[in-house]
Amino acid sequence: MTESRRLSAHQAAKPQTQIMEACLKDIVDAYNPDAPLAEASTIPAPWYTDERIFELEKQTVFSKSWQMAARSDQLGGRGNYVTSEIAGEPIVVVRGDDDVVRGFFNVCRHHAAAVMTEAAGRAHQMRCPYHGWTYSLQGELKGTPDFSGVCNFKKEDMGLAPVETSNWEKWIFTRLDRGSESLNQTEKSLADFLGNVLVNQFKSLRLETLHWIERRCYTLNCNWKVFVDNYLDGGYHVPHLHKGLDSVLDYQNYTIENGAHSCLQSSPMVSGGDDDQVGAVRSGGRALYYWLYPNFMINWYEGVLDTNLVRPLAVDRTEVIFDFYFADLSAAARERNLASIDVGDRIQQEDLDICESVQRGLGSRAYNAGRLSVRREAGEHLFHRLLCADLRAGVESANDP
Ligand code: FES
Ligand SMILES: [Fe+2]
Repeated sequence: MTESRRLSAHQAAKPQTQIMEACLKDIVDAYNPDAPLAEASTIPAPWYTDERIFELEKQTVFSKSWQMAARSDQLGGRGNYVTSEIAGEPIVVVRGDDDVVRGFFNVCRHHAAAVMTEAAGRAHQMRCPYHGWTYSLQGELKGTPDFSGVCNFKKEDMGLAPVETSNWEKWIFTRLDRGSESLNQTEKSLADFLGNVLVNQFKSLRLETLHWIERRCYTLNCNWKVFVDNYLDGGYHVPHLHKGLDSVLDYQNYTIENGAHSCLQSSPMVSGGDDDQVGAVRSGGRALYYWLYPNFMINWYEGVLDTNLVRPLAVDRTEVIFDFYFADLSAAARERNLASIDVGDRIQQEDLDICESVQRGLGSRAYNAGRLSVRREAGEHLFHRLLCADLRAGVESANDP
């Protein structure tokens, strides 16, 4: 028997030339979202490597979903603003003179320069650095130097283009595009998208008692979905890859609960553990790991919270932004908080290396799609089905006359 014949259907060697020529619709249709978990394959390798899928995701997955754009603590006062880039679009979120937080495309209506150029700050107006046009904190165009005599020009029609914005718990979310009826999960308000069950669970966590102290950013040479898959494998990789973390989690009793657009993975904690560094900063009854479709994770331990925002930079390049929050900010707790961040950093390094290894493997001719553990990988299955729904809707709308 030849080597390729010995590979299972799911591992079958992929005909590289066919994939090069396959149309986008064929690549999207290669995934079967109707297969139950026990029969399901993962999404096909080209979804992680093909530029066209990456572009389609920008138009569908990232433009039509609620995206974390700022922390609420960054927008505490009037004039506080945060800039970001979502699906390739420059965005600014700003608290207005009327105390309302609004989002805008950070694109000047004159010649398209970014109006706000710092990552975050405070301003009494938004002034474009190019030719000095100024906008109020509510986005209205106010000042246009040397622009008298221009015909058919109404300042009131030339404000910054607004972006839908909504606040939940410690975060401001924006959505570029409301989507349409056919995009099942994307026409919803943020509250509808999250659902009552999740919103009530978070109320009981009392996140208002936790305070942000630090942000760390990591750049990975992999597709953004590799990082999300790794997160959603139900702790499958923990005993193998994160030996320190494994010693404080009760791996056998790890649970996975899917919502409509979210997944809660949870593990009871065991005290002590073999790794003193991890044991000292990860304690309490349970660890809760929430994922919100498509790219935001909220990790909660007693008195400790961190979030991960997964930002696609290119088809094979991803930034993950970690924000760390703690209940106790006293000088006495400082050392423990920093040690907790260091543990998070060590775990992240382990994940980073494996994600890059996976990306290299996804490009191999020997791999086309994998299978999912029924016990562990239900969250990944949900992720893949939601992605598939968005990509299919995107392909169909592109094909509409
Ligand atoms: S591009 Fe902003 S003032 Fe000209
Ligand atoms: Fe991990």
